[in-house]
Amino acid sequence: MARKKLNIGLIGCGFMGRTHSNAYLKVNKFFDLEYQPVMRAMCDLNAEKLKTFAENWGWETTETDWRALLERKDIDAIDIVCPNNMHHDIAIAAAQAGKMVLCEKPLAMSVGEGKEMVDAVEKAGVANMVWFNYRRVPAIALAKQLIDEGRIGRVFHYRAKYLQDWTISTDLPQGGDALWRLDAKVAGSGVTGDLLAHSIDTATWLIGGIDKVSAMTETFIKERTHQVTGKVEAVKIDDACAFLARFKNGALATFESTRYARGRKNQNDFEINGEHGSIYFNLEDAHQLQYYDNRLDNHVHGWQTILVTDFEHPYMGNWWVPGCVIGYEHTFINALSDFLKGLETGEPVRPSLRDALDTQYVCDAVLESAKTGTWKTIAG
Ligand SMILES: NC(=O)c1ccc[n+]([C@@H]2O[C@H](COP(=O)([O-])OP(=O)(O)OC[C@H]3O[C@@H](n4cnc5c(N)ncnc54)[C@H](O)[C@@H]3O)[C@@H](O)[C@H]2O)c1
Repeated sequence: MARKKLNIGLIGCGFMGRTHSNAYLKVNKFFDLEYQPVMRAMCDLNAEKLKTFAENWGWETTETDWRALLERKDIDAIDIVCPNNMHHDIAIAAAQAGKMVLCEKPLAMSVGEGKEMVDAVEKAGVANMVWFNYRRVPAIALAKQLIDEGRIGRVFHYRAKYLQDWTISTDLPQGGDALWRLDAKVAGSGVTGDLLAHSIDTATWLIGGIDKVSAMTETFIKERTHQVTGKVEAVKIDDACAFLARFKNGALATFESTRYARGRKNQNDFEINGEHGSIYFNLEDAHQLQYYDNRLDNHVHGWQTILVTDFEHPYMGNWWVPGCVIGYEHTFINALSDFLKGLETGEPVRPSLRDALDTQYVCDAVLESAKTGTWKTIAG
């Protein structure tokens, strides 16, 4: 089949640069789509890293200045996969240049920035998506299906954790390559924007919008040497955040995130308790969904573990045979396939930049609540 070509310009050859490059390479091998991404141009500040990266992944050309990339007529879509403080300027310039915008999370450094990005893509009328890839974990998509089918009924509780342990050492510097996440000027916030943005996107996708939040944050290590300046500087990010939330549908929720949970490398889990049943998911067992169905006869009550690998499960019809699991990288391929399908059908993909702005409102309210010690109603 002759497919329509979609020329991609990707900015940032780090961790996410790899997952996205892999998605562009594989998506048409597994999904039957009218569009085919072409790995036209790769951009990174670091010319040496860029050359090796582009050769390894098969990017046709390279640029070290993202503005030069945006001027190119042979690029249809810009994929923003660099640190958070770059998202705003690149997304707006890309939209103004008439390019589609794919952007990594968190959307922006603040709601103010996010609003300007949303205005720009909507004014330009360009297709857009934010890579909240956990929506594309088949087990999480199955949780969404179970909730939408009414299987757990009215939701009473939502409980989410996102835990890591890689910043505990006092010797770890902040800023610069790989450690920009510890520098608030580049990251915007700590675990709130980096990890809880994922948990918030998943929660609001599954059960609806948040009404108000009450949060606390902590920065356990107050000073770190900055990799770029070489000076010891104050740490301004939140190392840990815990917040209470009330959803618009009346559900109560707790969210917790930290990078100080020894032994937890990337534990992203949630439990939902409803009138007729409960659901539990843990990214460390991403191919499973736990489900408790209270409508079964009493003598067979119990949590069941659904192995989410059947052809009937979300996305799994495109992968291997039942019983064979897929992994982290596939969530990006699934997301890209949804984006390309959206171009084909004209049904815009979700989450759009506007959807991600809703999550940004919650993140900003959480940080504000922690600062003021008061409940914050979600604006927007
Ligand atoms: N969806 C997810 O689960 C997920 C996971 C990790 C990171 N992210 C997001 O992806 C983005 C990138 O994170 P990462 O982990 O890949 O970071 P990274 O540090 O691994 O890579 C960032 C790359 O951007 C490049 N860069 C920095 N400034 C640049 C500029 N001005 N022009 C061009 N290139 C520039 C760096 O040289 C580096 O190669 C962040 O917004 C992050 O929050 C999302």
